[in-house]
Amino acid sequence: KILILDFGSQVSQLIARRVREAHVYCELHPFDMPIDEIRAFAPKGIILSGGPNSVYESDYQADAELFQLGVPVLGICYGMQWMAQSLGGKVESGHTREFGYAEVTTVASRLFDGLPSKTLPNGEHVQEVWMSHGDKVTALPAGFNVIGSNRACPVAAMADEHRGFYAVQFHPEVTHTKHGSAMLHRFVLDICQAAPSWTMPNYIDEAVAKIRAQVGNEEVILGLSGGVDSSVAAALIHRAIGDQLTCVFVDHGLLRLNEGQMVMDMFAKNLGVKVVHVDAAADFMGKLAGETDPEKKRKIIGAEFVEVFQQEAKKLGNARWLAQGTIYPDVIESAGAKTKKAHTIKSHHNVGGLPETLNLKLLEPLRELFKDEVRELGVALGLPHDMVYRHPFPGPGLGVRILGEVKAEYANLLRRADAIFIEELRNTVDEDGLSWYDKTSQAFAVFLPVKSVGVMGDGRTYDYVVALRAVVTSDFMTAHWAELPYSLLGRASNRIINEVRGINRVVYDVSGKPPATIEWE
Ligand code: XMP
Repeated sequence: KILILDFGSQVSQLIARRVREAHVYCELHPFDMPIDEIRAFAPKGIILSGGPNSVYESDYQADAELFQLGVPVLGICYGMQWMAQSLGGKVESGHTREFGYAEVTTVASRLFDGLPSKTLPNGEHVQEVWMSHGDKVTALPAGFNVIGSNRACPVAAMADEHRGFYAVQFHPEVTHTKHGSAMLHRFVLDICQAAPSWTMPNYIDEAVAKIRAQVGNEEVILGLSGGVDSSVAAALIHRAIGDQLTCVFVDHGLLRLNEGQMVMDMFAKNLGVKVVHVDAAADFMGKLAGETDPEKKRKIIGAEFVEVFQQEAKKLGNARWLAQGTIYPDVIESAGAKTKKAHTIKSHHNVGGLPETLNLKLLEPLRELFKDEVRELGVALGLPHDMVYRHPFPGPGLGVRILGEVKAEYANLLRRADAIFIEELRNTVDEDGLSWYDKTSQAFAVFLPVKSVGVMGDGRTYDYVVALRAVVTSDFMTAHWAELPYSLLGRASNRIINEVRGINRVVYDVSGKPPATIEWE
């Protein structure tokens, strides 16, 4: 396995993704991981990430003893500068920041040899890379050679091949570096000799054995939301311990059309999982009555969810474990949140935030997986492809998509409008063979509790408005509104107005994030 030390770059997670794509297991840890823990981790190699600081004035310093462990090390950007400084080289601030596309001339090295490259008329090999830095290495540490350079950055890559130390100023983990992932694969597979044994079938066997060992013959409960993470966790745990698992599915009345039925069919009927279906719609609606403030609505839904879940959990007196669909990005995020101050824009709620008062031990079998790996696992466990590749759906559900006060009447209108929009997205296939559902990251309808005038047949209508929202994003932190074909928007609008009595106007949201958020509340 490979250890990645995170110096705070925005793209550190991508390094881990690229390594996993080579079927090599890796973990991302904070840069100040103690050397004893690094030793205990026993990595086959270490990758040092980029970061926003300057090495000569920052306290972002790892323990340089890691260079004594006898394993290969790859430094990226800040990681390269820290390596250079720690081993006796020199780092200085550049006069200009280099940002974006760059070409780097490479010389023979185990990192670059044999990779596809651009060949210049003079026979030089050039890699097309992505740079983002102000500082640069100006003097090599003893034992190092330059293996890549360009005019702006004479030491764009360096290596001490004898000790297995490599460093690049550019970012091989981003797709803009043309052969970046090949370089990372080269490092972990050839230079570190890590075994490519991280595959889904292997993972399932290991995970099943681990769950059995952890849980023994005790019972487990899991809050099933219908979302991808909790569903895959349920399928995996069920594979491991069968009937020792009970899922609790709290239907808060704010789910998508037919979602409750779908979840019950998939788990109870098809997979034979024990599922307690709690129809708590009336409770939630009661608690939400009269409330229009978005934050208060979120708090009410979150608190009521915990309440209902707790009651059900108490009924299952034998449960000793609470299973959650926590995935690796959540783990990294909460580790990072300790050092970085996060500003609360919205208080998020999901089934992950469950009660400590239950006194249950936590079972989190997906803690090591990225989202795409969770999906792959879901399919391997027999969950339907469409379910596993669904857009994310927020914990508070339609509660944040009905602006202002939530009413059952509004929820019913919204559910139908939303289902029509999604159906049109799924049915409209673009020239590249992908449906617009697959081409967007998240799409949904929003209920606006305002009425506008319309005309239908010979009559005047005075009905509600629905807004359609579709976004494209890779991380949900920023997003572009999707440039859906007008014809698709037209069909969705027509159908919604014709089929959903009570809606007579449809608008499309053309706001990016920032400044707007993806959800309207
Ligand atoms: P915003 O609206 O903040 O949403 O741009 C970003 C992403 O987060 C989802 N979201 C939630 N997910 N519980 C969740 O599990 C929540 O309370 C919650 N609120 C927003 C939203 O759907 C989008 O994908």
